[in-house]
Amino acid sequence: MATVLLSSCSPSGEEIYKNPSAPVEERVEDLLSRMTLEEKVGQMNQFVGIEHIKANSASMTEEELKNNTANAFYPGVTEKDVERWTEQGLIGSFLHVLTIEEANYLQSLAMKSRLQIPIIFGIDAIHGNANAPDNTVYPTNIGLACSFDTEMAYKIARQTAKEMRAMNMHWTFNPNVEVARDPRWGRVGETFGEDPYLVTLMGVESVKGYQGDLNRPEDVLACIKHFVGGSQPINGTNGSPTDLSERTIREIFFPPFKAGVDAGAMSLMTAHNELNGIPCHSNEWLMQDVLRNEWKFPGFVVSDWMDIEHIHDLHATAENLKEAFYQSIEAGMDMHMHGIHWNEMVVELVKEGRLSEKRITESVRRILDIKFRLGLFEQPYADEKKSMEIRLSAEHRATALEAARNSIVLLKNDGVLPLDASKYKRVLVTGINANDMNVLGDWSAVQKNENVSTILQGLQQIAPDTRFDFVDQGWDPRNMDQRKVNEAAALAKQVDLNIVVAGEYMMRFRWADRTDGEDTDRSDIDLVGLQNELIEKVAASGKPTILILVNGRPLGVEWAAENLPAIVEAWAPGMYAGQAVAEILYGKVNPTAKLAITIPRSVGQVQMIYNHKPSQYFHPYVVKPSTPLWPFGHGLSYTTYDYSDLRISSKEIAADGTVDVQVKITNTGNRDGVEITQLYIRDTYSSVTRPVKELKDFARIPLKAGESKAVTFTITPDKLGFYDKNMKWIIEPGEFKIMVGPSSSDEALLTETFTVKK
Ligand code: BGC
Repeated sequence: MATVLLSSCSPSGEEIYKNPSAPVEERVEDLLSRMTLEEKVGQMNQFVGIEHIKANSASMTEEELKNNTANAFYPGVTEKDVERWTEQGLIGSFLHVLTIEEANYLQSLAMKSRLQIPIIFGIDAIHGNANAPDNTVYPTNIGLACSFDTEMAYKIARQTAKEMRAMNMHWTFNPNVEVARDPRWGRVGETFGEDPYLVTLMGVESVKGYQGDLNRPEDVLACIKHFVGGSQPINGTNGSPTDLSERTIREIFFPPFKAGVDAGAMSLMTAHNELNGIPCHSNEWLMQDVLRNEWKFPGFVVSDWMDIEHIHDLHATAENLKEAFYQSIEAGMDMHMHGIHWNEMVVELVKEGRLSEKRITESVRRILDIKFRLGLFEQPYADEKKSMEIRLSAEHRATALEAARNSIVLLKNDGVLPLDASKYKRVLVTGINANDMNVLGDWSAVQKNENVSTILQGLQQIAPDTRFDFVDQGWDPRNMDQRKVNEAAALAKQVDLNIVVAGEYMMRFRWADRTDGEDTDRSDIDLVGLQNELIEKVAASGKPTILILVNGRPLGVEWAAENLPAIVEAWAPGMYAGQAVAEILYGKVNPTAKLAITIPRSVGQVQMIYNHKPSQYFHPYVVKPSTPLWPFGHGLSYTTYDYSDLRISSKEIAADGTVDVQVKITNTGNRDGVEITQLYIRDTYSSVTRPVKELKDFARIPLKAGESKAVTFTITPDKLGFYDKNMKWIIEPGEFKIMVGPSSSDEALLTETFTVKK
C-alpha cells in the first residue's frame, strides 16, 4: 500500500519506473504521475521515420507530396522537426523505419528526452520482416494459409519476431485476420483466405508466435487488423464503404478478432472503411461496446494510415481535423498513425474540457504497459554488430523453404507433372513472373539478388541438364511487348515443353505500376495485358504448356483451366519461390497445399464463397456455369488418397455433448505424401438460414505410399452453434450433417448425420 501511494503521488521520489524489478503496473503509474499532458498526448502519436521523409522530399515535388498521403508528407515539417520532437519526448512511436541504424538513432534522441521513454517501432512484418532489407522472406499469408499448417504460422511468426528485435523493431502490424470475400480487393494476398475458422487458427498461432509471453527480449507486439469488414468492400476497392448485417459481422468477421484478443493480442488496428455508415475510426460500437466491454480487450487500438484524418476529409462526419481527433478518441482510439496536428489539437481538446485528461491517461497507460513489458526501458537499442547473426540465419532460411514448398497449390494435372527431365530436354520459360523478384509478394522490399530464387533460377538449379530458353516478357503486365509474345510463340514450336509464369505484379517499390496488393484493386480477375494471348499462342505450339501463377488474389484463368495440361498456383512463395516451384514441377517435392480461397471463373460470379447460404444457386447463371474454377480446399498431389469408413461415435447427443468422427484415409498411389483432410458441418434445418457447409476442423496427415490411417476429429459444442433470430448464440436441437474429405466440393465428401437432442 505504502509503495503504491509513494509511486502515484511522489514524482520527485525514487524513480520506480526505472526500476526493472518493480511490478509493471507500479512502473506505469509512477511514470504517468511524472508526465505532462503534452508528453502523454505525444505517447499516443506516431511518425514515419526520418529517412522516409527525406527520401520522399528528395524524389517528389511539393505538389506531388501534398497530394499523396501514401508518402506521408507533413506539410511544412522537415526531419529536423521530427528529431527535435523526439528529443522533447513528444513522439511515442515510429513506423516505416527500415534499418537498425535509423531505429537506434531515433531511440538515442528519445533517450535524451526528459523522462527517457523509449520509442516503440512498428513495422509491417507481414510475411517475415520483408519490408526491410536483408531479412528472411516467407510466403505471403494466402500461401501460408493454403498449407493449413498452423504450427508453421507459429514458427514463422516466432522467427520474424527474432529478426525484428535484431533490428530494434518491436511491433508488427500483423496478423491481418480479415476474412477475404472479394477477389477484386487487392489485399487478398495478405489474408489467410475466405474461411473464418482457418483465418482464426492461423491468426491465433501468429499472435502467439510474435508475442510469446511478451516479456522476452525476442518477443514483439502483434497487431490484429483491420477492424472490421474491409475485406468485403461494396465495390471491391480498398477502403470503400462496407455494409454488413450484424449477423454477418458476428458470424464471419468477428471470430478471428475475438480469438486474437483471447490469444493475448495486445494491439488492434481499425479499418479504413466505414461500417454501415459509421467510419471504423470513430466507431464506438466497435471500439468500446464490442472490443472493451464484450471482449475485455486490455491492449491498445491504433488507427490506420491517415484514417483519423479521413473522418474529416473523406467520410465527412467531422467538420474539421480537431473534431475528427475528438470523435476517434471518444470512440476508443489509443494511438494515432501518424503525423502532425495531433499533439497540439488533442492537448487543446483537453484544455477546452472536451476530453478529460483521465481519458488520455487511460490510453497512455495501455501503451506504456507494452513498452515496459517488452523491456524497452532496459534495452532501448539493438546490437548493430550482432544483427545479421540472427537475420537470414540458416534455420530461418530452412523454414522459408519448407513453408514455400507447402504453400504451392497444384490446381490441375493431366499427368504431365512431375516433369521427366529426360523427356523434356529443351524447355521454354517465359511470362512476366518467370525471372523476377515479384515472387516475394506485396509487403516486401527489394532484397539482394542472392537472397531470392526466381522461378527461372529454381528451374536451372533443380534440372541442371535441361536447356531452358528464356524469353523475357519484362515485369510489367500492363506494358508487355507484342514482339516478345510472338517471339515466345515461335520458340515454343522448337522446344519440348513450355512453362509460362504469369500472374500479377505486386512489388511496392513500383507502387503505381502494380496490379495486385494494397490499394491495387481490380474490376475484373483476368490476367492483365497480353498474358492470355501469350499463354494461348505458346500453347498453340502443340507442345505441353504449363502455367505457373504468381499472384495474391484469385485469378479467373478459365481458358487455361480448360486447355492446358497443368496449372500451379504459387501465390508469392517468398525468397525460395523458384526452388520450391521447380522442386514441385520436377517431383522432388510432392505438393500438399489446398486452396484457402475459392477461385471463381470470372468477376461476375463474385461473391463466390464455399460457405454460402442454401439459396445462393437456386437459380443458376445462364450461359456460363455457376460453379467455381476450383473450390475452396482443392489441391492435387502426385499420389492419390482414398477416403472410407466414415464413422461417428454417437447418432444422438445432448447440446453440450461431443461426437467423435473417424475416417480412414489411404494413400493409394506410389508416392509418400501429406493429405490435408477437411471436416465440414451443416445444420440441416435451423431457425435462421445457415451455410451449406462450414469448415470446422482439418488435419495434415502424412501418409507413406500404400499406408492407411484412421483420423479422429472431435466435434465440440462450439462448432454447432449460431446466432438465432434475436442474435443469441444457441445450439439448436435437430440434425447435423458431417462431411469429411479432401476439399469442399460435394462429390469429394463422405457424409454422416447425428442429432442434437431437445
Ligand atoms: C495499411 C496498414 C498498414 C499501414 C502501415 C496502411 O496503409 O492499411 O495495414 O499497417 O499502412 O504501413
